[in-house]
Amino acid sequence: MAVIAVTKETRAGETRVAATPETVKKLAAAGFTVVVQAGAGIAASYPDADYEAAGAKLAKTAKDALKDADVLFKVRAPEAAEIAALKTGAIVAAALNPHQDKETLDALARAGASAIAMEFIPRITRAQVMDMLSSQANLAGYRAVIEGAEAYGKALPMMMTAAGTVAAAKVFVMGVGVAGLQAIATARRLGAVVTATDVRPATKEQVESLGAKFLAVEDEEFKNAQTAGGYAKEMSKEYQAKQAELVSSHIAKQDIVITTALIPGRPAPKLVSAAQVASMKPGSILVDLAIEQGGNVEGAKLNETVVTANGAKILGAANLPGRIATDASALYARNLFALSGLFLNKEGAFAPDFEDEILKAALVTQGGEVVHPSLKTA
Ligand code: NAI
Repeated sequence: MAVIAVTKETRAGETRVAATPETVKKLAAAGFTVVVQAGAGIAASYPDADYEAAGAKLAKTAKDALKDADVLFKVRAPEAAEIAALKTGAIVAAALNPHQDKETLDALARAGASAIAMEFIPRITRAQVMDMLSSQANLAGYRAVIEGAEAYGKALPMMMTAAGTVAAAKVFVMGVGVAGLQAIATARRLGAVVTATDVRPATKEQVESLGAKFLAVEDEEFKNAQTAGGYAKEMSKEYQAKQAELVSSHIAKQDIVITTALIPGRPAPKLVSAAQVASMKPGSILVDLAIEQGGNVEGAKLNETVVTANGAKILGAANLPGRIATDASALYARNLFALSGLFLNKEGAFAPDFEDEILKAALVTQGGEVVHPSLKTA
């Protein structure tokens, strides 16, 4: 039966792992042989012994793990040494960051890999269980509030004490996709007064249903800002100017701003200007979840906390799901387990059907070439 390899993540700061003892057990029950590189789960608190007990074979090195592997499961894209160790035609499933990391994409193509970009799993009902953007964004949204609360020098909930009243913090969430919704819910649970904005009209009701207040420029462009796929369009300069004007006076009164706005395949929209940051009170916090796509906040720096002249802090930490690595790995590993079902035919034999709409949508390289339409033209 087919061999699935799970190797230790090599990209800087990556703490997650692509399989857990739970999914190893399920993969083995489905008939796969699972080979896990020693230490692969340590940073996410999954010890080697637990993988072994679940039925995995342990391999000393990534190269050993990949020797007979038909499939490689990873969190991030493999690097050169691992790509060189792949069998021709091996399937690689990982968050490949395909729009930005062309070099890896080309290397995977040259190696003859059938590479699946987990970001491209379509948002259709059947594929929800494989949707890593959702599973990870949800945790990122949660963690953004925790990071923001930690950096903030005051409390989030209102507290009435003998020594006086502590005011509730004002939290503003910009971008209400999966991450933003969880950020709203988390900030509400912590007792903050929450407002939120997005360019997609569908989000208004979602924001309100979570007990937060919605704020947006609701013009004609706003009414048409959602694509058929449920994503945001890039907004016109005119809209962005109106949006900036609306949020300017609001931001000045906020304690914690969490930005999550993304447009697939494009740099993140700039939503908070340096002037708006400068208008905030000392001690205010901005958490820029879009930092890996260039950031929503002017002045945000990747993996740095920037303290501005007016005493606000801009948190630019990458990979917030990696800061909740045990749960993030558990959910991502389940996404991959669900994906592995597509590699089997009705009889349970290993026979991936790349014509299946899910695999077809996410397949980025095959047979020596980059095959995804959105990447070929770029
Ligand atoms: P995302 O990560 O691509 O973007 C985050 C948010 O930023 C989005 O809500 C987007 O509208 C917003 N945004 C973009 N430009 C903005 C701007 N200039 N100002 C303010 N906000 C801006 O989005 P995510 O979280 O991936 O969700 C996208 C859609 O997919 C949503 O409609 C979500 O409900 C849907 N979805 C559907 C699933 C399914 O299986 N049916 C699963 C997960 C999400």
